[in-house]
Amino acid sequence: MNSDYKKYIYLNKQLWNAWSTNHTNSDFYDVEGFKKGAHSLTDIEISELGEEVNGRTMLHLQCHFGLDTLSWERLGDIPTGVDFSENSIHTAWKLNMHSQFILSDIYDLKSRLEKRFDVVFTSYGMLFWLPELKSWAEIIYHFLKPGATFYMVEFHPFLDILVDELKETPNGYFGSNEPVRYHLTGTYAAPDADITADEYRWKHPVGDIISSLTRAGLQIRFFHEFNYCAYPVYPGMIRISNGKYVIRDFTDKFPYMFSIMAVKP
Ligand SMILES: C[S@@+](CC[C@H](N)C(=O)[O-])C[C@H]1O[C@@H](n2cnc3c(N)ncnc32)[C@H](O)[C@@H]1O
Repeated sequence: MNSDYKKYIYLNKQLWNAWSTNHTNSDFYDVEGFKKGAHSLTDIEISELGEEVNGRTMLHLQCHFGLDTLSWERLGDIPTGVDFSENSIHTAWKLNMHSQFILSDIYDLKSRLEKRFDVVFTSYGMLFWLPELKSWAEIIYHFLKPGATFYMVEFHPFLDILVDELKETPNGYFGSNEPVRYHLTGTYAAPDADITADEYRWKHPVGDIISSLTRAGLQIRFFHEFNYCAYPVYPGMIRISNGKYVIRDFTDKFPYMFSIMAVKP
């Protein structure tokens, strides 16, 4: 990985360490509800990846402080969560039931973890933190057992255009090696948090995402697009029904999220 990427990854890691504490106490993540027995997964990943999961081993990449990881455990999986934020992984360790949590940049994971998994899972708000997808896809391939499944559900890169269009200077759809810098106050889960910071994001068009997976050797089983967002993560979103949000009245017009299932032959 080039040294510029390392610099931005380091800066993003500091950001996530600051955000993490606020997220743990936020209504958005509702840790108290989780402790009482709720789970944090949406109907999308549960229905697409499957509910009947008894004993399936799962690698959860970019697991944040582990609520989704532990939710999969609640549904019967045997998960291992990975994240590069010390504060997030420390919270995950404290919340922990039986899942394993590993503190690591996902790009360094091959040197930290030997196991192979029945499923590699990753979700909502993770791709734009990654500077390049070739190594990402190879890491996914590496950690899958033969015949095992990769599943991801993510905000659609098109959504960035829509949000950009609402600003004076749109950044467009296609990315480059250079990250886009966003200057933010608060966070998506704790908008009133007293944190002002820069975040560095990379744009990854859909073609690059799919091609990185197929080039790594995975076979795509499906690619789905959704006309709503599962979380109100962008300013000005309105709720149209339970777990469904859109920008203004833009229902049925734009792709807000997508999911991919792929298999290692
Ligand atoms: C929006 S969160 C993902 C949330 C996830 N859907 C969940 O389970 O709550 C993005 C996560 O990616 C992590 N992250 C970003 N870049 C990373 C990297 N290079 N290696 C490991 N974790 C990374 C951040 O620390 C953060 O927890």
